[in-house]
Amino acid sequence: MATQKETKPKAALSKVSDNSANGGNSTNANKQNGLDGQLDHARPRRPSVDIGLDMTAETCVLLTQVVSNQGVLYVKTRNYHWNVVGPNFHSLHEVFEKQYKMLEKAQDETAERIRQLGHRAQGSLHQFIEGATLRDEERDNLDADTMVRSLLADHEECIRGLRDMVDTIEVDHEDVGTADFLNALMQKHEMMAWMLRALANLG
Ligand SMILES: [Fe+2]
Repeated sequence: MATQKETKPKAALSKVSDNSANGGNSTNANKQNGLDGQLDHARPRRPSVDIGLDMTAETCVLLTQVVSNQGVLYVKTRNYHWNVVGPNFHSLHEVFEKQYKMLEKAQDETAERIRQLGHRAQGSLHQFIEGATLRDEERDNLDADTMVRSLLADHEECIRGLRDMVDTIEVDHEDVGTADFLNALMQKHEMMAWMLRALANLG
């Protein structure tokens, strides 16, 4: 079973280098020189949603950890989809496929949530591994039961982490939209954990 690393987010956040200081508004100088409008299209705009820049940055550090965990868990689930063997091969092969597809979609939505908050999404494999609290699978020839229990432990770690994040982001960062988003994501992990628990005959 995968050992768990510390849960504190450590992924560095790459902020968008843009016109954030004025909330993304065009400058008077641009209006005067006729560039207003052109530059609005050329530059990224910081969202003006009454959430401070510091708060969205802190939220996106947490979201970056979520994206990293989703990347690691996606690869692990797909690895198991390919390599599972045994009398339950067919059902496990299909459940793992269903779950890695859910994780792929969830990761896409989480990364795009970061972009909606005006920050850059980290998308390389090494950033996923460095930013995740989950561990990549390095073992070969695992039996099916070990695979199911390993994935279950990872989903349960995600659920615990997301529950803490929802509280922090809603109460401390005052970002109800992102808190709702993570709440829905947590429920997806709960659903996948339920399937794995049933497959492992754990109730
Ligand atoms: Fe396949």
